Amino acid sequence: MHADIVVLPGDGIGPEVTAAAVAVLQAAGRRYGHTFRFETRLIGGAAIDAEGAPLSDATLDACRKADAILLGAVGGPKWSDGEIRPEQGLLKLRKALGLYANLRPVRTHPVALTASPIKSHLLTGVDMIVVRELTGGVYFGRRTRTDIAASDLCEYTVAEIERVVRRACTLARGRRKFVVSVDKANVLETSRLWRQVATRVARDEFPDVRLEHQLVDSMAMHLIAKPREYDVIVTENMFGDILTDEASMLAGSMGLLPSASLGEGRGGVYEPIHGSAPDIAGRGIANPCGAILSAAMLLRHSLGLDAEARCIEKAVADAIDGGALTADLALTGIAARPPLGTDAMAAAVIARLEVEC
Ligand code: NAD
Ligand code: IPM
Ligand code: MN
Repeated sequence: MHADIVVLPGDGIGPEVTAAAVAVLQAAGRRYGHTFRFETRLIGGAAIDAEGAPLSDATLDACRKADAILLGAVGGPKWSDGEIRPEQGLLKLRKALGLYANLRPVRTHPVALTASPIKSHLLTGVDMIVVRELTGGVYFGRRTRTDIAASDLCEYTVAEIERVVRRACTLARGRRKFVVSVDKANVLETSRLWRQVATRVARDEFPDVRLEHQLVDSMAMHLIAKPREYDVIVTENMFGDILTDEASMLAGSMGLLPSASLGEGRGGVYEPIHGSAPDIAGRGIANPCGAILSAAMLLRHSLGLDAEARCIEKAVADAIDGGALTADLALTGIAARPPLGTDAMAAAVIARLEVEC
């Protein structure tokens, strides 16, 4: 098949990890006889500097026309105090494309277990997916600011909750049929609505799926204490943002977690969950696995290439378990010494892909 993919490398380590993911996509394309055309455009701080805005209309247009979008990360100290900020470009992209469901799978790899600060026996076999609502809540509510006060309004409609809960329950049907909905219903009105709608949708439309509710504060604890119990977790925008950075430590590093941001159509934005990592940017040491696994999700969700996606996921898992580890994971005794850089890690994945697929 042929597909047009817009690449938005962004800032910091974004260009480093997206280059690795593109190399893996090209290798998978060669292997399976697909052609991918990549069109690289600016987003975030890089776009502010060159185009005066974090997401230009021309770039948004190109994204609308593409089959899928691969994104690195945006942001950095250079732009954090300005009126116009890199992150606004990312939020605009998600909202404009209607990408309300952000899928963030979390899996552990045997070799990487000792890289996690959590005890290994709790981590073996962890396999969960967080469905984070992505275009509502406090991220998109009305804001006010005066010299002496500020406010961010958290709003959700029934329709916004229904569609993301449906997406989570549908995913659960292909898995262990267990959904935990996370809220703060003991305090927030939006959470009370969330809980009521989630309960109704699951009861009326997914009688085969077990739904439980959990308050977000205790969920932050349970996620570490008994991560193996979870299958699908569905939650609102900000809770999902925070819980998934926490969950990345189950796998051992922020650099390992991918994501897919999906709406009703086939298109989507695929990006690692981590940020631009200004502390390591430009050194060629960032872990590209989150970006590479995001590229696998792109193949699955936007192009319908499930076998190719599984092949990339297996190549990443096997490379890691074979001891190909970047600096963020090199806490294990088996780590390569010195640890692999970004490009070498991508090459290790490509080498696995070429023999195993
Ligand atoms: P961050 O995710 O950039 O970094 C957190 C820590 O994790 C850092 O120590 C970093 O070195 C490490 N890390 C992250 N990704 C890594 C990788 N691939 N390999 C190895 N180590 C990795 O979070 P932050 O420092 O809070 O934010 C920095 C900037 O990134 C901010 O401007 C923020 O707004 C932005 N950000 C963007 C996105 C995005 O574009 N989707 C996501 C999160 C944060
Ligand atoms: C993420 C990031 C973004 C978010 C920021 C950069 C707007 O943290 O993708 O997780 O909060 O959604
Ligand atoms: Mn985040």
